[in-house]
Amino acid sequence: MVRSGSLPVFVKRNTVKAMTGQSPILVTGGAGFIGSHLCKLLARTGRMPVVYDNLVRGYSDAVRWGPLEIGDLADQDRLTEVMRRYRPEAVIHLAGLIAVGESVADPGPYYAANVSASISLFEAMRATGVEKIVFSSSAAVYGLPETMPILETAPTAPINPYGFSKMVIEQVLADYGRAYGLRWMALRYFNAAGADPEGELGERHDPETHLIPLVLDVAAGKLPAVSLYGNDYPTPDGTCIRDYIHVWDLAQAHLNALEYLGGGGESQALNLGTGKGASVAEIISTAERVTGRSIPVTIRSRRAGDPPCLVADPTKAMSLLRWKPAFPDVVSSIQNAWAFRHPDMAVRGR
Ligand code: UFG
Repeated sequence: MVRSGSLPVFVKRNTVKAMTGQSPILVTGGAGFIGSHLCKLLARTGRMPVVYDNLVRGYSDAVRWGPLEIGDLADQDRLTEVMRRYRPEAVIHLAGLIAVGESVADPGPYYAANVSASISLFEAMRATGVEKIVFSSSAAVYGLPETMPILETAPTAPINPYGFSKMVIEQVLADYGRAYGLRWMALRYFNAAGADPEGELGERHDPETHLIPLVLDVAAGKLPAVSLYGNDYPTPDGTCIRDYIHVWDLAQAHLNALEYLGGGGESQALNLGTGKGASVAEIISTAERVTGRSIPVTIRSRRAGDPPCLVADPTKAMSLLRWKPAFPDVVSSIQNAWAFRHPDMAVRGR
């Protein structure tokens, strides 16, 4: 295992290859929640994750399994220079803005960071001859799907700028594939949740907007109550249903996607979810059981841009990528997130 700090930034690909036995993988956004878990898994399977991150929303202390190159995705010259230096076998592209509500209020930065900066990355790949990419797309591309669970063949009709930005990039990838031979996988994540089961890594968004970390902060007494955005949805208990997928399972799917592309697999978009939904009310009651604490709730009006129900049909990813979630139950996600976010209480609790 190579730790950040032990590897000089001027290291050459051959040196890296000699150290790891495999070519480097460039991970944009590797200092973030999903990226850091992915890098840990890459290193565990003998690959060298080279993190490219501007550290605006990521954390340098989460980059522990390979070198950190600080840079903006929009800086094509810097990206090209980094790729020339490491000559990665492939790119895993996770960098971008992720908050749905923020994208509705202020779409400009979303299109700049998610669309235009991604094109800088694809151009840098062309300039340096890197041909394979795994891209973090989202269930948000489906908007308000008419059938549940959602298949990849469902129409893409986003209802917020975040979802549009992901949809546009999927289209750009398809066009680059046809015109320039880029080989790609777009992984449409449902709701990423959980934390490293070994407790080293977890979710740290600032500000935090996601349900599970906020619910756990209420359980820990750091917040007075969970705001429950809408209990009048057309669902069994009136609250929104989501498909929560453990971050470690997401990370594993990226590795399998790299192997799939390496084996000549066809470029395409795939759903990454568990196939099971949990409502907001169920998440809160499960968190009460996991933490052994009561979680006060304040009912609020619906949040703009929230679909009532999003549950994946992950059959295609499971068969093409030979992937199966190892933590399909949301209880594991909540347990691991609780242990990372409030370690003292997780040890004392229950
Ligand atoms: N929710 C609350 N209270 C909160 C926070 C969230 O009731 O304080 C509800 C939301 O209304 C939603 C559910 O909990 O119904 C889940 O909300 P999150 O913010 O945790 O996640 P989202 O479903 O909004 O978003 C996630 C990812 C996005 C991705 C999207 C796909 O964070 O990146 O799923 O729709 F685009």
